[in-house]
Amino acid sequence: MTAVAVVGSQWGDEGKGKNTDFLSKDASFAVRSNGGNNAGHTIDIDGQEFKMRLIPSGIFAAGKGAVIGNGVVINPEVMFGELANLEKSGIDTSKLRISNRAHIILPYHILQDKYQEEAKGDKKIGTTQNGIGPCYMDKASRIGIRVCDLLEKDTFEEKLRANLKVKNELFTKVYGKPALKFEDIFDQYYEYGQKMKKYVTDTSVLINDALDHNEKVLFEGAQGTMLDIDEGTYPYVTSSNTISGGICSGIGMGANRLNTVIGVCKAYTTRVGEGPFPTELLDEVGDRIRETAHEYGTVTGRPRRVGWFDSVALRHAKRVSGINGLSLNLLDVFSGFDTIKIATAYELDGKKIDYYPASLKELYRCKPVYEELPAWNEDITQVKNYEDLPENAKKFLHRVSELVGVPLVTVSVGPDREQTIVLKNPWEL
Ligand code: GDP
Ligand code: IMO
Ligand code: MG
Repeated sequence: MTAVAVVGSQWGDEGKGKNTDFLSKDASFAVRSNGGNNAGHTIDIDGQEFKMRLIPSGIFAAGKGAVIGNGVVINPEVMFGELANLEKSGIDTSKLRISNRAHIILPYHILQDKYQEEAKGDKKIGTTQNGIGPCYMDKASRIGIRVCDLLEKDTFEEKLRANLKVKNELFTKVYGKPALKFEDIFDQYYEYGQKMKKYVTDTSVLINDALDHNEKVLFEGAQGTMLDIDEGTYPYVTSSNTISGGICSGIGMGANRLNTVIGVCKAYTTRVGEGPFPTELLDEVGDRIRETAHEYGTVTGRPRRVGWFDSVALRHAKRVSGINGLSLNLLDVFSGFDTIKIATAYELDGKKIDYYPASLKELYRCKPVYEELPAWNEDITQVKNYEDLPENAKKFLHRVSELVGVPLVTVSVGPDREQTIVLKNPWEL
């Protein structure tokens, strides 16, 4: 298969970065097609840790390059900071390619994100405050500034002046905040555009050509299914489509080009920010998982909320993204636990249900129905083959795969690239 996607199947932070890096070694291109620097993808290579926010995690291994597609929103300052860090570590970044249609995050988007959150008070979404939502709002309102607009001085000037007029009205009159000055933004962002130029191309043409020539392309999802703007726990979601369909619109290719969709999950569940979380653990078991796995946000450092594995959410993810292979990460976390729970269904008002309610009120009333499995004592972080895992670990994996209805392709037993057990080659699914 030549087009493989890696998508989050929970609330993000499932370990997509690790899986993408692992699979990219066989790919010509690695592509990001949604989100922006709200993402934080961790990659561990020989003890060195990289935290990727905008640059595709495949930049380390993909043969021909890493691509930022049209569906991504770009904060140029963050992007150049990330590029500089990679270059300092000796990573070749010359093969980065950026879509001429991607939208730019401007300083007013970041402020708008903060002001909106402040105004919502205890109803806040808990965003990363990186301006992601307001940038997608402007895209949908057709006032967004794209990479190609940034490259044309007169177009950029015209659009920035018009947008600042609207934003300053909003900031001063609705939020009671200071207005922004055109001069404080224009020169700096025009300069960013000029620096960006050498990477800019029509990435839809690049990727479709590669697929036409049977080259392997790895698509790296950001966030997770339950944060998808349509299929997630709305409004406690991000502002893009994180499911596999978002990849096609976010790079500009036909839905029939995607061969394989790998759903990435943890052996448990985490969530950052507000919103419903049926299997959340608010006790010492949750604390133990959080501390064992260092569950603190890559981007904001916030402690991640922790809960048991939720197969209702996973079946929802399987359906909306067409997941046909499962990559389960962080299995090592349960070494030394007595038991592990898996939610097999929800109970809503005394009735067992097997679907993800759209209504938040219903969702808050859902109680998980659990199945309990014994854990294991062995340290599994050095295990290389599935057969060598403890029997109880294999039983847990088997049950997860059975409940989700998808075969396991990889199991991860530690953060390093090498700590990956391959059950099936995702390129051959
Ligand atoms: P992403 O956003 O989906 O790429 O995930 P993050 O990088 O935000 O969070 C996943 C965290 O788990 C990172 O700190 C990874 O280094 C770490 N990780 C990934 N796989 C494993 C694993 O199998 N075991 C352990 N202990 N950590 C892992
Ligand atoms: P990766 O790619 C986990 C969450 C935020 C917040 C909500 C909206 O690393 O898995 P936003 O800033 O996007 O408007 O915030 O979405 N969120 C993530 N949570 N992992 C992510 O990315 C996330 N990106 C956004 O915490 O609840
Ligand atoms: Mg993350």
